[in-house]
Amino acid sequence: VATHGGRKPLLGFPAVSPSTADEVVLPPGYRYQVLYPWGDPIVPSGPAYAEDAGNTAAEQAKQAGDQHDGMWYFPLRGARSGLLCVNHEATAEQLLHTDGRADWTSEKTAKSMAAHGVSIIEIERRRNGQWHLNESKYARRVTMTTPAEITGPAAGHPLLRTGADPHGVRVLGTLNNCASGPTPWDTYLTCEETINKYFFYDEEPPPAGSVEERYGIGSESPYPWYTTERRFDMRVEPNEYNRFGWVVEIDPFDPSSKPKKRTALGRMEHENAVVVRGRRGEAVVYMGDDTQFDYFYKFVGAEPIKDALKRRRSPLDKGTLYVARFDEDGSGRWLPLVHGKPGLTKADGFADQAQVLIHARLAADAVGATPMDRPEWCSVQPGTGAVFFTCTNNTARTESVNAPNPRLNNRFGHIMKIDENRNPSSEKFEWDIFLLAGDEASGATVPPDQAFGSPDGLWFDAQGRLWIQTDGTQPTVNGVAQNNQMLAADPDTGDIRRFLVGPPRSEITGITSTPDGRSLFVNIQHPGDSGTPENPRLSSNWPDFSPTGRPRSATIVITREDGGVVGAR
Ligand code: FEO
Ligand code: CA
Ligand code: CA
Ligand code: CA
Repeated sequence: VATHGGRKPLLGFPAVSPSTADEVVLPPGYRYQVLYPWGDPIVPSGPAYAEDAGNTAAEQAKQAGDQHDGMWYFPLRGARSGLLCVNHEATAEQLLHTDGRADWTSEKTAKSMAAHGVSIIEIERRRNGQWHLNESKYARRVTMTTPAEITGPAAGHPLLRTGADPHGVRVLGTLNNCASGPTPWDTYLTCEETINKYFFYDEEPPPAGSVEERYGIGSESPYPWYTTERRFDMRVEPNEYNRFGWVVEIDPFDPSSKPKKRTALGRMEHENAVVVRGRRGEAVVYMGDDTQFDYFYKFVGAEPIKDALKRRRSPLDKGTLYVARFDEDGSGRWLPLVHGKPGLTKADGFADQAQVLIHARLAADAVGATPMDRPEWCSVQPGTGAVFFTCTNNTARTESVNAPNPRLNNRFGHIMKIDENRNPSSEKFEWDIFLLAGDEASGATVPPDQAFGSPDGLWFDAQGRLWIQTDGTQPTVNGVAQNNQMLAADPDTGDIRRFLVGPPRSEITGITSTPDGRSLFVNIQHPGDSGTPENPRLSSNWPDFSPTGRPRSATIVITREDGGVVGAR
């Protein structure tokens, strides 16, 4: 058996072939269980799923939301039971309601809002290896009507005040919860991403150069919520929009606690948030902003985590937000977004630090950050502290390339690596491209038989395997098309192998495991996409395969038939 640097190879499974089957494909010796699909109750005694989508909004608020994304397993009894926090990023209204988007009502708005947010469920593994949900004092849903607090430097700012909340400190709900991250103090971070879709601006789009345009507001909202809920109509409530786009902290172990929007981490289209400890014990948080030509950020806490917690302060409320500049020579700088610095003064349009954070994208523009090819997930390599992040794709890069974004019409994306020389609070770093995704014709650096595109989800497991999940265009392999997939890589040897392929039009996103690595949780998001109102089962009927049902996003658990560590030898 070949070894690298004296250690055993990290990958111990044969790569699976590309697939377009309506199934989750795994290597031989692996199996999966559908644990938590959309519409299932959060406790066994909750309202049962109606396969004709006939559940009410009130029932939906006690069931799994739609479009599962980032998640995390918090052990209760090690690998036997734990709390699983699961994001519900978005909804497909065609599938969410029996008659889809027809004849929109306030009940439909309420159900759609209840299908967003986060689930906290208690799960347990039986002797036979199957997982199930428990009745639990911890089980709850956070939805778009759950009271949440705004904390940190922007709390109470005039831009965050609304008619319903004149103090700018209390928001209803969390929105477009994309990816996630655990904190070292056992809380869950859920990140608000594509919030612009939910707000109606006006018949005409915002003016060129406006803040609203910079934050992606168009002239229409694909979600009809604003027709029945005034806070989503920007003509009536222009500031509600500013209360979304944050990293939100949830304490899964305190069911009475309110979600907290941590404004010190800046407002953008947050993907995930990875927390590590700096040399002084402070929290350092890495974050991507998933838009073409947007940026990669980090936050460095002002005080050691333990000091903050001892004084009942959040380690995430005070500190410095930085944005990354990638220089052509492979070095880089973290640029502080601090009010009063050049470009970030009153004369530049930033009244105070709160406004720098609320308009973090404009602040990053002003200091000369490097526009990237859609930074999505990041993860930190165990042992080295190197930060990897996906640049999923950027087909709008049509005019010029640079060293960190070296491809025009970047259809397939790439993965970046940042090395801060084991000092997470450093203002300097070295960077490299870990891999270029795609096929040979696109100049990919992965073996042709493992070709993939649009890397999105990214996670190092405890043994150092890098799991890569895709969302978007996949290259053909030997002329064969393929669905979205998940691969595992050994970053030190470059070995990379396809581990899972999902059903048609699903994306693979969200990954966590039990501490022993023997149960791996993965989300299959929007199988079949949204179908059509006439035929919801158009391209997928996973996971129920019911002739009268519909495809459902779901959390699955992957285990090995021999009980071993998933992915390992
Ligand atoms: Fe929610 Fe950028 O993916
Ligand atoms: Ca998605
Ligand atoms: Ca994503
Ligand atoms: Ca994506």
